[in-house]
Amino acid sequence: MGDKTAKLLSTLKLQPVVPVLIIDDVDTAVPLARALVAGGLKAIEITLRTDAALEAVRRVAAEVEGAVVGAGTILNAKHFEAAVAAGSQFIVSPGTTQELLDAARASEIPLLPGAATASEVMALREEGYQVLKFFPAEQAGGAAYLKSLSSPLAGTLFCPTGGISLKNAKDYLSLPNVVCVGGSWVAPKELVAAGDWAGITKFAAEAFALTA
Ligand code: 3PG
Repeated sequence: MGDKTAKLLSTLKLQPVVPVLIIDDVDTAVPLARALVAGGLKAIEITLRTDAALEAVRRVAAEVEGAVVGAGTILNAKHFEAAVAAGSQFIVSPGTTQELLDAARASEIPLLPGAATASEVMALREEGYQVLKFFPAEQAGGAAYLKSLSSPLAGTLFCPTGGISLKNAKDYLSLPNVVCVGGSWVAPKELVAAGDWAGITKFAAEAFALTA
């Protein structure tokens, strides 16, 4: 296993659930990340879907002790480089392109690339990837679908994301080819808007306690 894969796996193994965040107000990033870390969720993905995202990554990387901040929704080389420059310790994409794979190859920061079919998984295995994001998990076929990939594509591990919540997380976490799941449910928009950090820590602690 290469260094980047080992680094990625050690981050993903910190907890059963990686919070997937869409930050609208940059001032919420630090208290939100602190609330998640207090609940045990140290690895945090901030999606590049808002104007606040890169500054949010910067602030969390600089100010939140214990957090391992990553950037998600990385669609191209420009996003990749900006996210790394902001302090991202891992990068997540919903799928892959050659441009993105080239940017990842040139970087020390690991990429968790998205895949949803056997052919996509096989193509990424040829590029040396052993750990992938299964996206969009529920919509693409859910835990039963992912389980059916575990025997023919043995050796590939997944972080399923998309449509996962406290209700179905265990269906995935119990699979032999799942290392963790990702989800936005641990940081509901209403609680973030209300500044209910204690409420978010409670959601995070519930998620942290999930086991297979
Ligand atoms: C997303 O695309 O927003 C992430 O995969 C998270 O999905 P979720 O909001 O269904 O948890």
